[in-house]
Amino acid sequence: MANSSLPAVELVVRTIAETAVANETYFCELDSVVGDGDFGYSLARGFEKVLEGFESFDRSSPGAFLKKIGVTIASRVGGTSGPIWGTAFMRAGGAAGAKAVLSGADVIAMLRAAVAGIQARGGASLGEKTLLDALVPAIDRLEADLAAGSVEALAGAAQVAERAAAETTGMIAKRGRASYTGERSIGSPDPGAVAIAVIAARVSAAWRNHCSSKGALDPA
Ligand SMILES: Nc1ncnc2c1ncn2[C@@H]1O[C@H](COP(=O)(O)OP(=O)(O)OP(=O)(O)O)[C@@H](O)[C@H]1O
Ligand SMILES: [Mg+2]
Repeated sequence: MANSSLPAVELVVRTIAETAVANETYFCELDSVVGDGDFGYSLARGFEKVLEGFESFDRSSPGAFLKKIGVTIASRVGGTSGPIWGTAFMRAGGAAGAKAVLSGADVIAMLRAAVAGIQARGGASLGEKTLLDALVPAIDRLEADLAAGSVEALAGAAQVAERAAAETTGMIAKRGRASYTGERSIGSPDPGAVAIAVIAARVSAAWRNHCSSKGALDPA
């Protein structure tokens, strides 16, 4: 078992950040259908800042590192996405505490804490056409499948996120700018939910790669 989960957390954060930056235009296009078209821009500016400062962040524990990521995003990005994504990383870091090694159960607790933070910040419930509609089912699947090993569990969670993001197409937006359009929001997927699906797919692929390059199916 590894004596620190920091490299694994760094890999996941870097993958999320690079995915957000690479998909700036795509995420803006999704948000221009019924929103104000700024989602990709907001996310890319926040994660660009994360990549800029990456090497300098506090690495005393995975939790401290994640908190710094959250603060960086929240201080760079305004509107809805800055506080929401910033809070998610801060809460995940808080749930990790000072632990050096994170178990599967710890990771689930961190993800649940991130969801609670997003809900405390934005007040959204499931079914209101937000990123939660992809994130929560994906975490549920991850938790259910963890015993099968992290590589397969993550791949399954990514598939669930993709399906769940597509299912937001039939929902009416109740939060954010898209909610101003009421019923017109039916017929296109929620940009935040699609972003979760795209990110989950990239993280799953990066994790599979990482595990096979270490020659172990399921390193800690
Ligand atoms: N209250 C909320 N809770 C959770 N997620 C939300 C909420 N409002 C919006 N979102 C998510 O954020 C995405 C849009 O992000 P974006 O940064 O473009 O926000 P916005 O609604 O345009 O508001 P603003 O322009 O003020 O930032 C949506 O697709 C949705 O997934
Ligand atoms: Mg927007």
